[in-house]
Amino acid sequence: MNGIKAIIPAAGFGTRFLPASKAVPKELLPILDKPSIQYIIEEGLASGIKDFIVVTGKNKKPIEDYFDLYPELETILTASKKDHLLDSVSKIIKTANFLYVKQFEQLGLGHAIWTARTAFSHEHVAIFLPDDIFTGAIPGMAQLIKVANQEKCNVIAVQEVAKQEVSRYGIISVRRQFSPNLFQVKDLVEKPAPNKAPSNLAIVGRYVLSSNIFASLENLKFGSGGEIQLTDGIQNLLLSGEKVFAYKIQGQRYDAGTTFGWLKTNLDFALKHPKYSEEIMKYLAKLEKDILFMQGKAEALKNKHKTI
Ligand code: UTP
Repeated sequence: MNGIKAIIPAAGFGTRFLPASKAVPKELLPILDKPSIQYIIEEGLASGIKDFIVVTGKNKKPIEDYFDLYPELETILTASKKDHLLDSVSKIIKTANFLYVKQFEQLGLGHAIWTARTAFSHEHVAIFLPDDIFTGAIPGMAQLIKVANQEKCNVIAVQEVAKQEVSRYGIISVRRQFSPNLFQVKDLVEKPAPNKAPSNLAIVGRYVLSSNIFASLENLKFGSGGEIQLTDGIQNLLLSGEKVFAYKIQGQRYDAGTTFGWLKTNLDFALKHPKYSEEIMKYLAKLEKDILFMQGKAEALKNKHKTI
């Protein structure tokens, strides 16, 4: 799969981040000092991908500005010997190719992927959902591409989730298990109720799909949540006889798509970052003392009420 191109759907409203995401795309909210979408592009480049098709919508122009040159700022930074501050993004601008495709109506993830169809002919497609950030020794997408090459089929990333969480995800049912991490998919169901879920293997934000996914998404009816779902398109691939494998990516997944998930991701990244780890550890230790103190106070208050 040399030269595989990526689609990054980023046209959603990001309602879970409102009001912050009203004018600032949630993909630009920072994880430490870099916007979350930058981690996605870095994973893509580290997986051998150079071409990124970003599906955008209203108010997403700042994403294009971020991955663009800014000569006035660069001149000032160079004069004050601070040009290293843009190093990580300048490297991306030099190596990656960006194409922006506009999704005029936010009809769902499946529709966003379909919107990018004209950028592809018959090659496979690597899809990154920018809410999910993976870290680990081998880039998440590189792991999926390897499996797709070996098995010559579609591969989707999955992760085991708690039973009460299955209704937040697309869930697979397994036809065959080949190893602790590799499965052949029998069926997929989008956001099932916990008692109807065929497994606890949830689809997470990375896919390598054949270009037939675009035809599979064509004329799809609105599915779960009143949206055109990518899961339904993959189900159509299965129905047309294509094999779909599911792979548990080795590494850590961060869900930065909710306010709390984003906050946790920031804390985890800070703890692991050489520049911030010492300070954040000190701060967390102080917070722990405050929490114990507050819990002690609450306990004392409870006991006082009991004795009255
Ligand atoms: P989500 O379901 O997480 O929606 O979309 P969202 O708008 O990003 O966030 P919330 O749920 O309202 O907080 C999953 C991915 O699909 C993209 C989103 O940008 C996100 O990356 N998407 C979704 C589109 O590009 N277009 C759509 O019509 C819907």
